[in-house]
Amino acid sequence: MQLKNDLILRAAMGESVERTPVWLMRQAGRILPQYRAVRSSLSGFKELVETPERAAEVTIQPVDELGVDAAIIFSDILVIPDAMGLPYQIKESVGPVFSKRVESRADIDGLKIVEPEKDLSYVLEAIKCTKRDLMGRVPLIGFAGAPLTIFSYMIEGGGSKTFSHARRMLYKSPKDSVELLQMITDSTIEYLKAQIKAGVDLVQLFDSWAGIYEPEQYQEFGLSFIAQICEALKADPETAETPITVFAKGAHESLPEIAHTCCNVIGLDWNISVNRAIELAQGGHTLQGNLDPCVLYGSKELVRAKTQEMLNAFSGHSHIANLGHGVYPDTPLENVKVFVDTVKEFRHHSVESVS
Ligand code: CP3
Repeated sequence: MQLKNDLILRAAMGESVERTPVWLMRQAGRILPQYRAVRSSLSGFKELVETPERAAEVTIQPVDELGVDAAIIFSDILVIPDAMGLPYQIKESVGPVFSKRVESRADIDGLKIVEPEKDLSYVLEAIKCTKRDLMGRVPLIGFAGAPLTIFSYMIEGGGSKTFSHARRMLYKSPKDSVELLQMITDSTIEYLKAQIKAGVDLVQLFDSWAGIYEPEQYQEFGLSFIAQICEALKADPETAETPITVFAKGAHESLPEIAHTCCNVIGLDWNISVNRAIELAQGGHTLQGNLDPCVLYGSKELVRAKTQEMLNAFSGHSHIANLGHGVYPDTPLENVKVFVDTVKEFRHHSVESVS
C-alpha cells in the first residue's frame, strides 16, 4: 500500500523534506495509559509481545495519540536470545531476567541460530497486522538489538549496571565470545530480513550498551558485527532498499567507524554536541536524535525552546528528530506532545545559507 506520509523514509535516504520527521524511541508502551489498559488485560509483557493483534494495537497507539511520523513494532530486543534458547522474563520493577546465563563453552553449544519464520512467527504476524491496520498512514520501523548488546544480556543473565561479566568474557574468552556474537549476528540478519519481507519500512539496530566498552574493543566486538548485518541487508535485492539506522549509545569515539558501515542513519544520544557529531560522522548519513529525555520533565516552554535549539543545531543536515534514548515511563504525556508538535511546526529559516 502507498504510504501517505513517507517523510522519515525520504529523510533517512538523505532526500530533502518539507519538515523534519519525528518519532520517539520506546514510544509504544511505557508512557501511554491506553498501553497500560491493554497490558493489564493480559498476563504480562511477554504475552502481549506474543499476541500479534494486541501487539499491533499498542504499536499504533502512539500514532493516534501523539501524531508521530512512524510506528515502531511492539516487541523487544530479547526475543532473539529467547529464540536462541535463553528464555527471558520481564519482572516488574526489576527488568529483564533470564532463567540462566551463558557461562561456558557448553552453554554456547546449547544455543541455536534463529529461524524467524518458525521461531519468531509471532513478530512477523504482528508486523502484518500492524501494516494492515496502519493503512499506509505512516511507515513501520522494525528493529533488533545489536549483537554486542544482546551478548551483554546473555552473558549477564539480565540487566546490570556494569555488565562486568560480559566485559570480562571479552578479555578472558575472546574466541568463544566471537563465536556467540557470530551466532547472534546470523540470527539477526535472518530476523531483520524476515521483518522487511513481512512489511517493515525501515530497521533500527539498538546498541544500547555500546558505550560501556573501550573504543577498540567496541570496534572489534561490536561494530564489525553491525557492519556484517548492514552488508547482508544491502546485498539482498529484497532488503537492499530498506533504510538502516544504527543507534550505538555512548560510542561517540567510534562515530567515524559507524559512518564507514553502509547504514543510512546514525542515532545519537544527548552526550555529544550536534556539531561534534556532524563532524565525526563525516556527512553522508542522516542523523537521528538527540534531545535529553529529561528535558521532557521541564516546563512546556523549556521543552519547546530545547527542541527548537536542537532543530536549529541540525539545520542544513539531514535529520530525524528523536530523543537521545527511550522516553522514560513517567514522562508527562502533555510534554511528549509539545515535543512532537514543536518539531512538526518548526520550519528552518534560510536553509540555503547553511552549508
Ligand atoms: O520503541 C518501542 O516503543 C517499541 C518497543 C520496544 C520495547 N523494548 C518494549 C518494552 C523496544 C524498541 C524495546 C527495545 C529494548 N528492550 C532495548 C533497546 C532500547 C533501549 O532502551 O536501550 C533494551 C535494552 C530492551 C531490554 C528491556 N526490555 C528492558 C531493559 C526492559 C525493562 C524496562 C523497560 O521499560 O525498558 C524491557 C521491557 C520492555 N520492553 C517494556 C516495554 C514497553 C516494559 C515492560 C512492561 O510493560 O512491563
